[in-house]
Amino acid sequence: MEVIVQPTAEEATEVAARIVGNLIRRKPDAVLGLATGSTPVRLYQKLVEKALDWSRITVFNLDEYVGLPQEHPQSYRVFMRENLFNQTNIRLENTHIPDGNAADLPASCRAYEEKIREAGGVDLQLLGIGSDGHIGFNEPTSSLASRTRIKTLTPRTRADNARFFGGEDAVPHHVVTMGIGTILESKKILLLAFGEGKAEALAGAVEGALTATNPASALQMHEKAIVCADAAAASRLARLDYYRWVYENKPQWQKE
Ligand code: GLP
Repeated sequence: MEVIVQPTAEEATEVAARIVGNLIRRKPDAVLGLATGSTPVRLYQKLVEKALDWSRITVFNLDEYVGLPQEHPQSYRVFMRENLFNQTNIRLENTHIPDGNAADLPASCRAYEEKIREAGGVDLQLLGIGSDGHIGFNEPTSSLASRTRIKTLTPRTRADNARFFGGEDAVPHHVVTMGIGTILESKKILLLAFGEGKAEALAGAVEGALTATNPASALQMHEKAIVCADAAAASRLARLDYYRWVYENKPQWQKE
């Protein structure tokens, strides 16, 4: 795993925006895997500021709540429209988000996997990390081989997300999420982690044992996983000085 640590979330986001922006310029028909939550909001703003051409870009989002009306302010479709889609020239037919209201959810999950395959797979998957190490909505103990499916949220994740819903009771129990196996098939992964609240999960993911109890640790199995963290999220990493040295002394041939 490549671990890039910057003093602030703003600076770490700047690095991430450069990586994503370069990909969009280099491959104008790239397939991006997108994430929601508070972590990538600033990244989306920075990408909008770069005035990139999204007209041939295809995107697949990681997850969606089950049973929220499509126009609910906390649905991830609304989130993506407000934070990115509406401010770019992306074609809405090229934006894909799991359908949390499908009459047949398992069939809709299978169809989602099929659509990703038809698009040629994900070139770059963006991820945040839950305070318990979840990626997408793959909660601890999720199968490391899992595919897009229905998951039940843990009380901790529902408590973490209560701030968006004005209370825990309003947070749905069920979600549809790409699986860990789905995520690992993307060609490159970029995980963002900001704030002290992510420090323990990030240390487990990067330096702990590969385990389903920290789903983000599955990225250790990926050939090209990059972590962009701020100092607070990186504060529990034992090899921090090493990661800093590697990044600061990156040879030209390794640069993005
Ligand atoms: C959410 C999302 C994840 C996100 C994580 C962290 O519930 N499903 O994709 O990475 O939890 O959220 P935040 O960025 O708000 O801390």
